[in-house]
Amino acid sequence: MNYKEYISIVENFPKEGIVFKDITPLMQNGEAYKAAIEDIAVYTRQKNADVIVGPEARGFVVGCPVAYALDLGFVPVRKQGKLPREVVKVDYGKEYGKDVLTLHKDAIKPGQKVVITDDLLATGGTIEATIDLVEQLGGVVVGLVFMIELTNLKGREKLKNYDIFTLMQY
Ligand code: PRP
Ligand code: HPA
Repeated sequence: MNYKEYISIVENFPKEGIVFKDITPLMQNGEAYKAAIEDIAVYTRQKNADVIVGPEARGFVVGCPVAYALDLGFVPVRKQGKLPREVVKVDYGKEYGKDVLTLHKDAIKPGQKVVITDDLLATGGTIEATIDLVEQLGGVVVGLVFMIELTNLKGREKLKNYDIFTLMQY
């Protein structure tokens, strides 16, 4: 399927100079959303993942249906102040700002194989921070999946020690 037909491109959002790739038209089309999730599920099954981890909010849009398709659990990574129990934390920077991400301390067991999901790879800051959290708990990151990769921002170089699967490149 040509997934790019379902991506809307919006200039100067959320800030001047950013050319935003909007996945909501893809999510609104049942056939396209299902095909995208199935492609990602095939990759994730090959990686023998024990659990899926995804960062708020669009990492959930990819990770939850993949977890459901493979009978796996899903673990949310959230911005500071959102998870109710004890967490590990990391500061991070991304294409258009800085933030803090957190993960429940008991969410990953040492040695568990983790696939991390998100909608889009830009600078790789969000996923580098998510990997840091998983590794703080002893998880083993076996793959990273994204619907979209923005190649000019060189996230792949930042994440060169990890296996990456993407459906579309811009
Ligand atoms: C966006 C996007 C990725 C990240 C990509 O999330 O969904 O998670 O930025 O940028 P990076 O590769 O430079 O880190 P955002 O933080 O805007 O959060 P949202 O999904 O809650 O909108
Ligand atoms: N689109 C959607 N999310 C993003 C983008 C983008 O172009 N860059 C960083 N996060």
